[in-house]
Amino acid sequence: MNRVKLAGLVTLVVLWPGLTQAQDAPLTGEQVYKTKGCMACHGSKGAKPILTYPALAGQSEKYVLQQINDIKSGKRVGAVDETGHPATQGMADILHILSDADIAAVSKYVAEQKPGAPKPLDPPAAAADLEAGAAAYKKLGCVTCHGVDGKKATVPIYPVLAGLNRDYLHRQMVAIRDGGRTSGQSKLMVPFAKKADDAAIAAISTWLSQIDRSTP
Ligand code: HEC
Ligand code: HEC
Repeated sequence: MNRVKLAGLVTLVVLWPGLTQAQDAPLTGEQVYKTKGCMACHGSKGAKPILTYPALAGQSEKYVLQQINDIKSGKRVGAVDETGHPATQGMADILHILSDADIAAVSKYVAEQKPGAPKPLDPPAAAADLEAGAAAYKKLGCVTCHGVDGKKATVPIYPVLAGLNRDYLHRQMVAIRDGGRTSGQSKLMVPFAKKADDAAIAAISTWLSQIDRSTP
């Protein structure tokens, strides 16, 4: 009789959902961001990236989700850095520790964060470069997909560009134009990118990098 009771109690403990819930609870986007390495490279709340890495705060959620999956699967490699490795390598190396639910949660989290102020350039951009960048962006039709001043994409899966790191923007435009980045929806942009010469790419990167999205 006692043994039967004990067995019943053990079963109850094992099956009691509340007891295992804490351990199985999905991580919030913020927890994923802080505990799975993102913060080390993309900075606090995705708004203060290190080196020439992209800011994520306020980026389109659908775009972010697609990029993480493309970097994880190796579809997006982008440029090769000075050590001969793809620029996406360091990030790709940690993505196996994220579940699909983690990736969805962290995409939503970064998209909801407030963008940081632009990183000042040293030396500061010349007024003539900023003007040339704005003019080339308009003339080459970038506004059709990336919106006025690159502040809001016209389709949710397209990226916001304003305030991203200058060298990052430069690297991506060259990679999309010259075939180093072909993943996702990149091919839509190729005919436009092909019309951008190196001077236009440099000027557009400088101009976009200094547009402030931190205040509405
Ligand atoms: C070791 C550094 C590193 C870590 C850790 C890292 N990233 Fe990245 N991430 C990068 C770099 C570098 C790029 C840009 C690569 C390039 O230039 O093509 C990038 C690109 C991205 C992009 C594409 C941005 C865009 O505008 O296209 C997203 C989204 C992203 N990372 C999210 C994350 C998330 C979420 C995590 C945490 C799970 C994470 N990253 C962890 C370095 C890192
Ligand atoms: C027909 C739509 C379209 C036009 C026009 C277009 N782009 Fe894009 N662009 C995209 C899409 C879509 C992506 C994201 C590709 C992907 O899915 O990985 C992108 C990506 C980018 C990126 C990389 C962003 C990041 O966070 O990594 C930059 C920089 C960029 N575009 C700049 C430009 C500039 C400058 C122009 C004008 C010369 C331009 N684009 C014209 C659709 C367009």
